[in-house]
Amino acid sequence: MVKLTSALSISVLAGWAGVSLAAEPPRIPVNFPQPEAGQYVHVPPTLADLEEATIHPELKRVIRRGHDLFVNTQQLRGENVFNDMNCSSCHLGEGAQPFSAPVWPAAVVLPNFRSKNQQVNSLEERIAGCFSFSMNGKPPEYGSDNLLALAAYHQWLAKGVPIYQPGDSLYGRGYPIGQPDAEPSYERGQVLYEANCSICHAENGGGLRVGDDVQYPAVWGDASYNWGAGITRISTLAGFIHNNMPLGQPRSMSVQDSWDLADYINSQERPQDPRYTGDVAETRALYLDTFHKSTYYGLEKQGRLLGDHDNLGEKDFLKPGALRPRFFE
Ligand code: HEC
Ligand code: HEC
Repeated sequence: MVKLTSALSISVLAGWAGVSLAAEPPRIPVNFPQPEAGQYVHVPPTLADLEEATIHPELKRVIRRGHDLFVNTQQLRGENVFNDMNCSSCHLGEGAQPFSAPVWPAAVVLPNFRSKNQQVNSLEERIAGCFSFSMNGKPPEYGSDNLLALAAYHQWLAKGVPIYQPGDSLYGRGYPIGQPDAEPSYERGQVLYEANCSICHAENGGGLRVGDDVQYPAVWGDASYNWGAGITRISTLAGFIHNNMPLGQPRSMSVQDSWDLADYINSQERPQDPRYTGDVAETRALYLDTFHKSTYYGLEKQGRLLGDHDNLGEKDFLKPGALRPRFFE
């Protein structure tokens, strides 16, 4: 058994021999698990590495712009973003942190079939998905300067990873978590929330916004993600919490606590799913197998039928045009 003590041994294990390594150790917080044999470990380059890179200065400028949009997506508020989120609200470490759904995998596994929308997606389309659901918004136009800049930032983070490296081999991808021992409990979740989370995210889930500055994003309500967002799946939110919250204390909430917290948070109301047909039961049924089987949308919780409303949050349209089917005929 190889003992993993340094960036070098991790990378050798992952089959990285021959690839030059970043000088600094991987940004893996101490309480994250070490990679398993056969996993592909990638240490994304930093913005400092960007300045050193031998690429065209104009490309550097575009990648910097993509980074700026990623960490301060609120600059697109009212145009593309209609809630209190930045991309980095859910993709910590500027989109580079393992177990915080680092975004570089999308640059190397796409184009690929995506079960959520049952078609082959490009990197731009994947980014557009997070705008439509997680940001309760409307993606920048395909081919626009802003979408190009964001895609360029994702590809920069993926620098050196072989294209079509199998997605399930990527160390730290997504928000992984095991199954809970007991059924998730709303009541236990509420107690945990009030003790560990409400100091930042507020008792009513609304977070804290001071003027245009979002200090703590909303975990439910109008300023939060909508009912179509990936993080409305209980397992996904549980995995996010376990690996990332409270801020700066990854894995301090146990697996069970994280599921209980996810049950509590995702039993609260939020803006409508952009795929809404006008009937919550019908919408749930339509996307049950591909999505809503893991959410509480359209189910009765605490005496309320969740998602049974026309509330779009802060935007005045339901379905952004970018959510369109493809036809290869
Ligand atoms: C409310 C939380 C949230 C916000 C805000 C958010 N995302 Fe995501 N993002 C997710 C979730 C959940 C996933 C899916 C993770 C999973 O299931 O593995 C995801 C996945 C992704 C992926 C695919 C990663 C992979 O492993 O293939 C990309 C790329 C991405 N997001 C980009 C963005 C961009 C760009 C923004 C800002 C415009 C953004 N996200 C905002 C929650 C969020
Ligand atoms: C010290 C303040 C703080 C505490 C305590 C805290 N969070 Fe957060 N949380 C944040 C910040 C800040 C972000 C956005 C990340 C960023 O911008 O770097 C965030 C992001 C989130 C998100 C994703 C974005 C959103 O608004 O949906 C969720 C979900 C979340 N936290 C849940 C929790 C839960 C559950 C707890 C308690 C176990 C918790 N947080 C405790 C500060 C905190």
